[in-house]
Amino acid sequence: MTKPVSITPDIAAIIAPRVESTPLVQISNVWKKRGNNVVLKGVDMDVHHGKVVCLLGPSGAGKSTLLRCINAIELPDRGIIYIDGEAIGARREGARFIRLPEREISRQRADIGMVFQNFNLFPHLSVLENIIDAPIRVRGESKATATERAYELLERVGLANKAKSYPRHLSGGQQQRIAIARALAMRPKLMLFDEPTSALDPHLTDEVLDVMKGLAAAGMTMIVVTHEIHFARQVADIAAVMADGVIIEMGPSKDVLTRPSDPRTRKFLARSLQEDH
Ligand SMILES: Nc1ncnc2c1ncn2[C@@H]1O[C@H](COP(=O)(O)OP(=O)(O)OP(=O)(O)O)[C@@H](O)[C@H]1O
Ligand SMILES: [Mg+2]
Repeated sequence: MTKPVSITPDIAAIIAPRVESTPLVQISNVWKKRGNNVVLKGVDMDVHHGKVVCLLGPSGAGKSTLLRCINAIELPDRGIIYIDGEAIGARREGARFIRLPEREISRQRADIGMVFQNFNLFPHLSVLENIIDAPIRVRGESKATATERAYELLERVGLANKAKSYPRHLSGGQQQRIAIARALAMRPKLMLFDEPTSALDPHLTDEVLDVMKGLAAAGMTMIVVTHEIHFARQVADIAAVMADGVIIEMGPSKDVLTRPSDPRTRKFLARSLQEDH
């Protein structure tokens, strides 16, 4: 009989899968100026695989700017963001980071799904064409493969019968569900949502939130900017509250959203919950 090998914590750390220990998203001391405004002032945040972070805070706090930096639509002036261990938009050269060529940045961006407030579907393309465009053009998928996957995703967001429709013939809630399907078609590592329901009539909000709940339950890593406090309480693992370019409070959403410690969070929550009703 072979003798059992004892595994010390050190060895366990080495042989454990890397994905469990390294956060998928590592945001480190990110600063960003816009015009004369410093809108991000040293943001730090880690997001682990499969977790949902809701990002809350008053208008002008810097939430959209942070998402745009994560997605390399903009690059931080200082600090660095890693996704899956890869520096976004930059490569290290000694102690400095050098901006990557735009082609490289586009490749990184393809791994990150982004859903905007105003859907941003291509108006001249059908629903199906909206979904298969990037997988074919950017990922080099065949039309047949992309189409098959598009129908699976349409099924998942409850819109399999809308493949041939054009965005202008769909409700806002339907357009947003298509926008989510389109982002998922690229098989992203991470999904970012910037107030995905705030342009919708209240009765269309739930159908979008339900799709997002399904995604969270399926293990997608998500960062969601939202004013939907009920959704955040229900779905988010972590709530992060921003004000004036910094994260003022971050922790398990159940704690932050029911017993906030910062008075600015309390004020923000009270106002958001009032608007909800
Ligand atoms: N193009 C720009 N030039 C100068 N300042 C800008 C520009 N865009 C945004 N800002 C400023 O940057 C700050 C952060 O904006 P950001 O859009 O990130 O905030 P936010 O938290 O997403 O707000 P909201 O809840 O209103 O969407 C704000 O003070 C805003 O006025
Ligand atoms: Mg915003």
